[in-house]
Amino acid sequence: MHHASAFQANPRFEVVGICDIDQGRVDAAAAKLNIPAKGTDARALAVAVKPDVFCFCTLPNIRTEMIRAGIDSGARLIAMEKPVALTSAEGFVVRDLLAASGVKAVVSHQHRYGEHYRKVKEVVASGALGRVHTVYGTATGWMMHMLSHLIDYTRWFNNEAEAEWVMAQASGRGKLGDLHPSPDYIAGFVHFANGVHGVLECGAGAPDVPEVDYWWRKCRMGAQGTEGFAEVLTGGGWRSVTSQGSASGGGCMNYDLDMPPYIQQIADWLDDEKQVHPCNFGSAWRGFEIMMAFCRSAAQGGQVALPLSGPADELELLRAAVPQSPVLLSMAANAKEYGG
Ligand SMILES: NC(=O)c1ccc[n+]([C@@H]2O[C@H](COP(=O)([O-])OP(=O)(O)OC[C@H]3O[C@@H](n4cnc5c(N)ncnc54)[C@H](O)[C@@H]3O)[C@@H](O)[C@H]2O)c1
Repeated sequence: MHHASAFQANPRFEVVGICDIDQGRVDAAAAKLNIPAKGTDARALAVAVKPDVFCFCTLPNIRTEMIRAGIDSGARLIAMEKPVALTSAEGFVVRDLLAASGVKAVVSHQHRYGEHYRKVKEVVASGALGRVHTVYGTATGWMMHMLSHLIDYTRWFNNEAEAEWVMAQASGRGKLGDLHPSPDYIAGFVHFANGVHGVLECGAGAPDVPEVDYWWRKCRMGAQGTEGFAEVLTGGGWRSVTSQGSASGGGCMNYDLDMPPYIQQIADWLDDEKQVHPCNFGSAWRGFEIMMAFCRSAAQGGQVALPLSGPADELELLRAAVPQSPVLLSMAANAKEYGG
């Protein structure tokens, strides 16, 4: 509904069809948004209505099937939800299908449109931090939900420098069986070609963000340099301390504010090859490789070089390797999701 409403509200788009395997959901959505065609079979509907844009926001277990449906419908752009895939084996299939078809694609890392995220990017880009040496991100939600976001925005703060290697650890098997399958806790380092280091942790052991009440938005991302730091909290504003003084401001993740510019930039990219969408698949792919490399390092030990040399089933690697011992929590509020 967030995606369909935002497309419908943009004068450059008209939603010509909507699909869900749940008949009740699709009936309600089509009626609410006044959409002419609806169905429970995404491929059949897309092939029938021939959209310019094929957008899907299903759970992450059916990416290849949806990408094929989008390509076969003749769409010029596919808009998908994060994560890119559940394993690099599927990720490479998705990447290669898109590359062979020439269809543009974007991945919904739309938090970046929040005023607080943009403010931190602005401070980092202004040079006020001096020489940036570290980017960092934490989230209490688990990997398949949150790590994709943390990586995307910290890569953005670091001007999308190429990652050269990662090293990570993982703990806790509870969420390996989730619909967003993940170790309960994963943490690691990314080394970027420009010398910047990324420090990322996600899940049960990640630190509290006490400034934010809403559990899913307890995410802190930022950059540190020789002259100071700037950071954003997903659920509660931003702050910076630099040689010029300290500053702070508001802002909170909000679909109503974050989706419209994400959708507008889809129109802009379709109109003009040069206006490449900031959430373009190529950029999301490099973030996805970092996430999969974290899993490989956690499962197999040592550092993992990037780009990935070939496909693997990282979930199987994790299932074989993550210890049976229960995850240890960073705060009592995490027990509702991770036990303990
Ligand atoms: N970018 C963000 O901020 C953000 C926020 C929440 C969720 N997500 C992502 O969005 C995706 C969906 O998550 P959700 O929480 O909305 O899940 P959800 O379960 O609420 O919604 C998924 C919908 O897909 C439908 N569906 C399943 N198989 C289908 C098929 N073959 N064809 C058509 N419809 C099908 C389901 O019936 C359901 O209505 C996930 O990848 C999740 O990680 C992203």
